[in-house]
Amino acid sequence: MGRCLVVSQLAAVIALVVVVICGNLAGESEAARAFFVFGDSLVDNGNNNFLATTARADAPPYGIDYPTHRATGRFSNGLNIPDLISEALGASEATLPYLSPALNGERLLVGANFASAGIGILNDTGIQFLNIIRISRQMQYFQQYQQRVAGLIGQQQAQRLVNDALVLITLGGNDFVNNYYLVPFSARSRQFALPDYVVYLISEYRKILARLYELGARRVLVTGTGPLGCVPAERAMRSRNGECAVELQRAAGLFNPQMIDMISSLNAEIGSPVFIAANAHEMNMDFVTNPQAYGFVTSKVACCGQGPYNGIGLCTPASNLCPNRDIYAFWDPFHPSERANRIIVQQILTGDNKYMHPMNLSTVLAIDNSRT
Ligand SMILES: *[C@@H]1O[C@H](CO)[C@@H](O)[C@H](O)[C@H]1NC(C)=O
Ligand SMILES: *[C@@H]1O[C@H](CO)[C@@H](O)[C@H](O)[C@H]1NC(C)=O
Repeated sequence: MGRCLVVSQLAAVIALVVVVICGNLAGESEAARAFFVFGDSLVDNGNNNFLATTARADAPPYGIDYPTHRATGRFSNGLNIPDLISEALGASEATLPYLSPALNGERLLVGANFASAGIGILNDTGIQFLNIIRISRQMQYFQQYQQRVAGLIGQQQAQRLVNDALVLITLGGNDFVNNYYLVPFSARSRQFALPDYVVYLISEYRKILARLYELGARRVLVTGTGPLGCVPAERAMRSRNGECAVELQRAAGLFNPQMIDMISSLNAEIGSPVFIAANAHEMNMDFVTNPQAYGFVTSKVACCGQGPYNGIGLCTPASNLCPNRDIYAFWDPFHPSERANRIIVQQILTGDNKYMHPMNLSTVLAIDNSRT
């Protein structure tokens, strides 16, 4: 009887140990896949805080609706597009900026954000912002990141983490706003007519995506440019009555469809739908054209700024600030509010092929999850 009790206690201990070990393993395999982000201010979550640049969002009222209510470097009142995609992936926290000293050890395994406000597809985009991380440098950091992770979990596991990850890249807007159209008679506008410039940008974007593939990316969400001419800054500076600026809208209208075609051809070459195109222009135009249908009072006036449409200059502590950010489509003269970002990410997740090519993110996630 006594011995029996001991044995059963031992069995209980073993069972407990088994439960703990299995629980741990399950916990590991159920951890959200890693997430990597490349691109410009639409997806930067703080790298520029660590750089000597004028393209920054590290002072109030930026971040006013962020969980900490502090400016983080995100160009939003609250969460930005990568934050909301992390949420959809079930990640417990947002990926840290690669330059953050807090990004080390285990936290590297969650992924990293390499984006830098002001950059574009071309190296000469954003030169006025001085020290920013151009896309080729972002990809060098990605290589460096992989070496660091290999040091942590071994080469093979690091490779697997990268292959299994979701990647987001957002480029193109600055190649118009902060390059071709930055000043009248810019070097690029003298070199190229707009349609030829778009063709050139798309060919350079293709090289960047091919390089990401070489570096191990196997699921890459690629967004095109938003409604460049309809942002409050351009309504204020380039249109007579606050209508969308025609030339910039023409640019976005040319860029997005060609980006989608380029991605189809790249996928065909690879033989797999590695790249997923998001038509950011269409997604934004829904609420830009019909703000009331999406619960906004306006899509013309920025929440934070000054001058016509609050579209002039930067959003600073001295700017006008709206009391309720949720009813503005634009937070500052160039960037959507958190609520607009939520509408965009919802379309990325569930949009039909007016928005997503060749499929939406929920379909991607369902396919990828069924594989593992
Ligand atoms: C941009 O600069 C990088 C690094 O200097 C270089 O490798 C790349 O070829 C340049 N891209 C273009 C389009 O000139
Ligand atoms: C996503 O795309 C699929 C395939 O195109 C479509 O059937 C579905 O309705 C879309 N939305 C969701 C939520 O999956």
